[in-house]
Amino acid sequence: MLNNHLWYKDAVFYEVYVRAFYDSNGDGHGDLAGLTQKLDYIKDLGVDCIWLLPTYPSPLKDDGYDIADYYDVHPDFGTLEDFKTLIDAVHKRGMRIITDLVLNHTSDQHHWFQEARSDPASPYRDYYVWSDSQERYKEARIIFVDTEDSNWAWDEEAGQYYWHRFYSSQPDLNFDNPKVREEMFKALKFWLDMGIDGFRADAIPYLYEREGTNCENLPETHAFIKEVRAYMDEHHPECILLGEANQWPEDVRPYFADGDELHMNFHFPIMPRLYMALHQGDVSSIKEILARTPEIPENSQWCIFLRNHDELTLEMVEEDEREWMWQAYAPEERMRLNLGIRRRLAPLLSNDLSKLLLANSLLLTLPGSPIIYYGDEIGMGDNIWLEDRNGVRTPMQWDSSPNGGFSTALNGSLYAPLVDSKEYRPSVISVAMQQADPTSLLNRLKHMISVRKAHPAFGRGDFTWEASITNTSIAAYWRSYEGQQILVLQNLSKEDQLINLEMNHVKGNSLQDILTSQKLGLKKNDITITLSAFEYHWYLLDRGDY
Ligand code: NOJ
Repeated sequence: MLNNHLWYKDAVFYEVYVRAFYDSNGDGHGDLAGLTQKLDYIKDLGVDCIWLLPTYPSPLKDDGYDIADYYDVHPDFGTLEDFKTLIDAVHKRGMRIITDLVLNHTSDQHHWFQEARSDPASPYRDYYVWSDSQERYKEARIIFVDTEDSNWAWDEEAGQYYWHRFYSSQPDLNFDNPKVREEMFKALKFWLDMGIDGFRADAIPYLYEREGTNCENLPETHAFIKEVRAYMDEHHPECILLGEANQWPEDVRPYFADGDELHMNFHFPIMPRLYMALHQGDVSSIKEILARTPEIPENSQWCIFLRNHDELTLEMVEEDEREWMWQAYAPEERMRLNLGIRRRLAPLLSNDLSKLLLANSLLLTLPGSPIIYYGDEIGMGDNIWLEDRNGVRTPMQWDSSPNGGFSTALNGSLYAPLVDSKEYRPSVISVAMQQADPTSLLNRLKHMISVRKAHPAFGRGDFTWEASITNTSIAAYWRSYEGQQILVLQNLSKEDQLINLEMNHVKGNSLQDILTSQKLGLKKNDITITLSAFEYHWYLLDRGDY
């Protein structure tokens, strides 16, 4: 029996943007009740844990990452009652649900900031970071480079500058103030007591500022996370913290600490390298980044993903690699945003089913727990003509009825238009069509997920490259856990590859493809196989008499 406290090591995650998922009341916005109605779909896909983008009251200048009240739900999305109903319905289906918790900043519409700016004597003034000049913390980089040219914004009412790492409508909280830390504790307790299974901790590296540093990953931040973790371990031992630290692996490693900070962290740098590998037909970039990835404690887990609600970030690649990625995947200016690419998975991979399946094979077999971004399981398209990151946040395409089955609102009153390009519109790409087709991306992915879940080696196992494969077009590795050994073989290139596997180090009778049930005998130690373009196999070693 697997240790339940470590459920997140075996879990498949699914990221949901509530506004986009399903509109239950016909007002043009997806809502919590709508998501609740669609839980069976998510369960059926094989998902263990849902991650919700922020649903708090907010002016939505950054789609909810600008929180105006930590204790309520945005009226477009429903009520606290709807939230509780959702949590219960998720749990009833044996799934879990985590929500985004934005610790670093609030909206400028939050009453703390409103009072802080209007009254220097207000107790809330010191909730934020103020300055008379823009000279402080000059070494901190700007994140939203397309919109912001400083991390300081002048506030007319306050007569001072305030600090913000993201949009200027998102003032950073002052974590040096113990009251702020208390407020954040109070907020997270509120949601934990309601039954949430944990948080995706947004923008975690930026909580504190210190002169002479880049204001990221500071020791004070680690101390705060340790306190949160200790609280959760004591009161909610099965709840998790998933950190959003878009950093190099060696800088993320400290967030796992001794297994007493964040349970999980996104592995940001591996993501663009999966795309590099797929475009170059060469595994080397994946190998390099994994070699650079430190070991993590037993109770910790990486989270890997192909896409999410943001631009495909290219912060964790070298400059020449970024240029290359832009040329390869974002040839048009509109496809680029900040240091990234605002496109969805299917358009990035030319809507090529075999490439999409291979990308998902990597996602489901490399070390870490996978997160699937809503809509990518059916290969939804994007709309680069929408502003900011909205082009990858369009309504979910349920069927080919009006509004793609997302909403009964009049067309034009939806929060965003459906994708209507020839290749990706709901009459071509929808859940209903793919459910009916056994060979669809949705059904193939569902099968892969179920096979992954039946084999704990994927979530918990050691990872080793198969040394006899020197052909760099092939990603070949073993996942091994308590006697279960799985060899994953993937051809990243668009050409057939003839490979020779030397199996003298392997003790077993045969390799069984757990996706297709085909067997490869191991009578000889050398096996020669041809893998066609983008072909993949997950071979379980049958140890037979060994
Ligand atoms: C990271 C989130 O993923 C992104 O959507 C948001 O804009 C920033 N954090 C600021 O909260």
